[in-house]
Amino acid sequence: MDNGHKTGNGVSTAICGTAPVPAEEIEAICAQFGNDKHRMLDILREVQDRYRCIAPATMDHVAAATGLTRIEVEGVASFYSFLSLAPKGKVTIRLCDDIVDRFSGVSEVACVFEEELGLKIGETSNDGAFSLEYTPCIGMCDQAPAAMVNDIVLTKLTPETARSAAQALKAGRSAEQLISERFEALTPSERALHMVDNNIRHAGEVLLGPVPEDAGLAKAATITPTQIISAIEESGLRGCGGAGFTTGRKWRFAASERAEKHFVICNADEGEPGTFKDRVLLTERPHLLIEGMTIAARAVGAREGILYLRGEYVYLRELLLQVLEERRRRGLLGKDILGVKGFDFDIRLQLGAGAYICGEEGALISSCEGLPGEPKTRPPFPVNRGYLGYPTVVNNVETFCHAARILDKGAAWFNAMGTEGSHGTKLFSVCGDCLNPGIYELPYGHTVRELLAMVGGEDAAAVQVGGPSGTMIARDSFHRKLTFDDLATGGAVIVFNGERNVLEIVEYYMSFFVHESCGYCTPCRVGNVFLQKAIQKFRKGLANPEDIDYLKDLSGTIIETSRCGFGMTSPNPVLTTLKNFPLVYSAVIKPSKDGIRDTFDIQSAIDGARKIAKRRSYIFDKDFTQ
Ligand SMILES: Cc1cc2nc3c(=O)[nH]c(=O)nc-3n(C[C@H](O)[C@H](O)[C@H](O)COP(=O)(O)O)c2cc1C
Ligand code: SF4
Repeated sequence: MDNGHKTGNGVSTAICGTAPVPAEEIEAICAQFGNDKHRMLDILREVQDRYRCIAPATMDHVAAATGLTRIEVEGVASFYSFLSLAPKGKVTIRLCDDIVDRFSGVSEVACVFEEELGLKIGETSNDGAFSLEYTPCIGMCDQAPAAMVNDIVLTKLTPETARSAAQALKAGRSAEQLISERFEALTPSERALHMVDNNIRHAGEVLLGPVPEDAGLAKAATITPTQIISAIEESGLRGCGGAGFTTGRKWRFAASERAEKHFVICNADEGEPGTFKDRVLLTERPHLLIEGMTIAARAVGAREGILYLRGEYVYLRELLLQVLEERRRRGLLGKDILGVKGFDFDIRLQLGAGAYICGEEGALISSCEGLPGEPKTRPPFPVNRGYLGYPTVVNNVETFCHAARILDKGAAWFNAMGTEGSHGTKLFSVCGDCLNPGIYELPYGHTVRELLAMVGGEDAAAVQVGGPSGTMIARDSFHRKLTFDDLATGGAVIVFNGERNVLEIVEYYMSFFVHESCGYCTPCRVGNVFLQKAIQKFRKGLANPEDIDYLKDLSGTIIETSRCGFGMTSPNPVLTTLKNFPLVYSAVIKPSKDGIRDTFDIQSAIDGARKIAKRRSYIFDKDFTQ
């Protein structure tokens, strides 16, 4: 993962920013997390927050305290884009660079910040006061352009609001004061709602309508784990994180594994550009989510759970910690939950640090284990051997919320909604060129055209269903249904009008995948770079008819040979637009010169991938020794 700075090998002092960091302070941070190597991400996040970088000597101290090697610590520190080996500014401004933000004017906002702070994107000021950078989707596409200022989120930025924010920061006001002068006096929930609108446009029957408190958990406490699993199976609930695996089966597999411990993990990584429905559930229905996790714990016999929150949603940390604490006080977490002997379960919050791949469940587990967020080889599956080698249920935020409602209202109630194969309701996060971006909770089975009418997106020329790794469809497919069997989506629906350049969107999505590949396997690490370069060739009007075959062949190879779901879906922007927008490609193709293809410079094509993987070229680097 490229975090845009050098590793600083050879520097021996523990200097972060301007001040040396005493070893005792680093040791105290490690001790705070029990010197546990599995809490490495928490340790390094704390070091980063406090000293604005993770200096080489700091890593030595962390390694000594946790019993790891320096290389292992550096492997984690250099993987996540919110951790930095070079000093960051006291105030780090991360402008969301998603395609929706681009189309909403983020570059004008960036120019204002550059002008006011005297910095270019990617730079840190000499006095260490400010860093300014772009970051991929921060989950605010319904209120773009958006930015993170340290842990604070700014939305609906304009050049004017950006200027006053920059001037206020320069005048010494804190990021929190940009939100409210009374920030400190606000509750965690009020703070979150001051920063971010939830834009609930349509509340459905299951999740966003009235929800009685802990009725599902009360029911679960009176029945056996097997009965809980049967109820979830009969409801037809399928995972809402994208893959759509049957939730009841997943829980049954985990429950049937004999092991000393079981774990339940909530995937709140929500990194797919254009998806923001989990953000809304985390803000509006945090109790329902924890209720669902607790029910899952009873079903599979887990005593420990982890709520993995993406680093971009750090503004929700206090709110969630408060909810966990409140539930402990009320006997809804901890020992003998609801007075049931032996029903013990508690949850820790694990904050991510800016890595899309950590949404993939194997990578998510690696990240929870304090490792770089690399996917794991399957099998074994997490339900057999997951977190620390124990059977683990990983479910999406929305899936856990649904499970709690099913226990309360019954499997038949849920099963009756939606369509054959896609039961219940789904949260759609709709953004882009429409009048009413936001959250729509609808039963499965609506067509894209019906959804567009609801959101004021009738002018759409293209709709990206399921984010970049999903499908881009044209008008002639707007009759298709939003279901697992037709157009599946983890939630993202991005609307584009006829003025948008489809190839620009495709190139952007491929650049996103190039940036976010974990780099473990060659087809994904290198192949996505090739695809992006090939799309650039089309955009420049330099492509031949043969390049269409090249795009298809290369996409097929990446899909077939990649190790995880990332590489198996990353060519989708190319493949789905080739299929659904063929004229976009043919319009920019120039005829072959006697059927001979332009030469292709393989070394420059893989240059980007090589930098990401921190590998040198054996042709160009004379001192290459690997
Ligand atoms: C590259 C990649 C990114 C993913 N990102 C997420 C994510 O942000 N949130 C999520 O719930 N699932 C994500 N998934 C799916 C998870 O791997 C996993 O299937 C899911 O968390 C299981 O929960 P569910 O069955 O409730 O959907 C991602 C998968 C891949 C391949
Ligand atoms: S497919 Fe991509 S993201 Fe997945 S393991 Fe390979 S390099 Fe990493």
